[in-house]
Amino acid sequence: MKKTAAVLLSLMLILPGTVLAADAVSSATVSVTEVPDAKMYENTGTLVIYFSTDDTVKAAALIIADAVHADSFEIVPEQPYSEADLAYYTNGRCDREQADDSARPGIAVWPESLEQYDTILIGYPIWHGQAPKILYTLLEGIDMSGKTIIPFCTSISSGAGSSAVNLQKLADSTACWADAKRISNNSSADEIRSWALSLNLTGGKKEMQLQINGIPVPVSWEKNESVAALQELAAGGMTVQMSMYGGFEQVGPIGKEITSNDAQIRTEPGDIVLYSGDRIVIFYGNNSWAYTRLGHVELTQEEMTELLCHGNATITITSVTD
Ligand SMILES: Cc1cc2nc3c(=O)[nH]c(=O)nc-3n(C[C@H](O)[C@H](O)[C@H](O)COP(=O)(O)O)c2cc1C
Repeated sequence: MKKTAAVLLSLMLILPGTVLAADAVSSATVSVTEVPDAKMYENTGTLVIYFSTDDTVKAAALIIADAVHADSFEIVPEQPYSEADLAYYTNGRCDREQADDSARPGIAVWPESLEQYDTILIGYPIWHGQAPKILYTLLEGIDMSGKTIIPFCTSISSGAGSSAVNLQKLADSTACWADAKRISNNSSADEIRSWALSLNLTGGKKEMQLQINGIPVPVSWEKNESVAALQELAAGGMTVQMSMYGGFEQVGPIGKEITSNDAQIRTEPGDIVLYSGDRIVIFYGNNSWAYTRLGHVELTQEEMTELLCHGNATITITSVTD
């Protein structure tokens, strides 16, 4: 008696146990019409970690991740839940686990590290008024000390009840828990997005935009002191005249020496680095040298080459507030 999926997703590219982030919109639906795909989104302090057996929580999680520019991580059980397991009020596996205080279903792949995240949204379905026991496994097995935790759950009709409070009891006491948000199976993507945005997780956060010859390009910026210094420098907008060099890069002066932390690296097409403390380099090929990483343009080698191989480029960097 497994319920019909509230949301139908095309998320085949998501590998269990990979941290991913939401990007472009795709996918189909019943109640939710726009479910973003997921992709790596490296420069974020927020993670959406979720468990979902029938894609309702998954859809909500990816909408939230997309709205707040968060990474996402799906908790995949060691032993998948079959339809029979999920059929509730049949004394099936879920019913038995939920009734058993000591049940701790195994997790197939754990997140490697939560170090880079200050804020963690934890998403789960309501099973018999509570979080599934695999969430207990998670909270007992992972260090959430000092994190801000925002629980959210989906359900047909029940509220969040004591589900999040019971999870909180298992977590490190230095974690700061927000009240749980319950999302109905019938919620629209807009409702979910509005709630996510109301959390203000990206509010006021400064980001930088890069244009190459007037064309805005998507960049994942590093989180380091050099990027922070560049951001200050670019506060009022910054234009850099670049020069083609070596058939693999364009390099240009940023007008001032900023803090650097050079290390010998091999660059890939799309990499943006600081060279010698006062020059910015953007690659459309590879090079091995001592640089400080600044970021990466999320375009293919072909796209980077097309942008950068036709003579000296002009780039502009603008610091913007969301
Ligand atoms: C074992 C089990 C127990 C459930 N218990 C409840 C419940 O107590 N209250 C409720 O409103 N929905 C209940 N549901 C429905 C789910 O909470 C709801 O469909 C949820 O959105 C499913 O999320 P998912 O599709 O990501 O797995 C239960 C579902 C299962 C499988």
